[in-house]
Amino acid sequence: MNAGVDVEAGTVGVRMPKHIAIVMDGNGRWAQAKHLPRTAGHHAGSKAVRRTVEYCAQQGVEVLSLFAFSSENWRRPKEEVEILMRLFMTTLKQEVKRLNENKVRLLFIGDRGAFSQALQDKIKESEQLTGENTGMTLIIAANYGGRWDICQAAERLIQQAVANNDGHLKVTEALFEDSLATAGIADPDLFIRTGGEKRISNFMLWQMAYTEFFNSAVLWPDFNEDYLREAIFAYQNRQRRFGHTGEQIESAQNNTKNEL
Ligand code: FPP
Repeated sequence: MNAGVDVEAGTVGVRMPKHIAIVMDGNGRWAQAKHLPRTAGHHAGSKAVRRTVEYCAQQGVEVLSLFAFSSENWRRPKEEVEILMRLFMTTLKQEVKRLNENKVRLLFIGDRGAFSQALQDKIKESEQLTGENTGMTLIIAANYGGRWDICQAAERLIQQAVANNDGHLKVTEALFEDSLATAGIADPDLFIRTGGEKRISNFMLWQMAYTEFFNSAVLWPDFNEDYLREAIFAYQNRQRRFGHTGEQIESAQNNTKNEL
């Protein structure tokens, strides 16, 4: 008997993360080090996005979440924001067909109402085109913030309770999760942040309660398959305990081995 311990969670050396979430930091510094405008870093960053998506899909990762633009990124210089918006649009136009051919399902999370109508339409069209795909789910967090997500989930629950005239709605974790932008998606197993900073920066705050963090000093445009393998290897050598003790996990694993 495993006494409710998630044995798979503690297996070392073999398991692939099912969901990888990435903060792609360091585009600006990459460009500055090369005496290029910051925006050149974002263009180079989009190539690293393509490498990462391809590698994760090949490796059987089920969900890849990329933090493309935070709720706070509007504070950047106007020209940089404009160039980022243009880059999202051109990248979508260029990549969606190939993503669709590779059975990738695209999902955008965040408050898309702030984007131009053209970008909103393109986002909707890409989601509709790829919505039935059964391969990797690629989540692009755009105008997303973890706090925003928690607030909009709370708002939805309140609206439901009002509509149902339910003054005693019991808010369970499962019910709350169903109202988050990531409803139906398992929480990230591995969180990678490039660029050396050790912050979560308002990414999936609720969803990353038990996510394994991997910090890389590599600047995002330089990120490639080798660094990704390094992050996955580090993850595979962590023992995930979810509140249990290490002994409980090990004993549950031994029991499972004996049962086989
Ligand atoms: C953070 O680096 C990066 C961003 C805010 C933008 C991320 C965008 C891309 C990687 C481009 C394409 C993405 C998609 C999904 C098409 P930074 O500018 O904060 O770097 P710094 O810390 O060195 O200044």
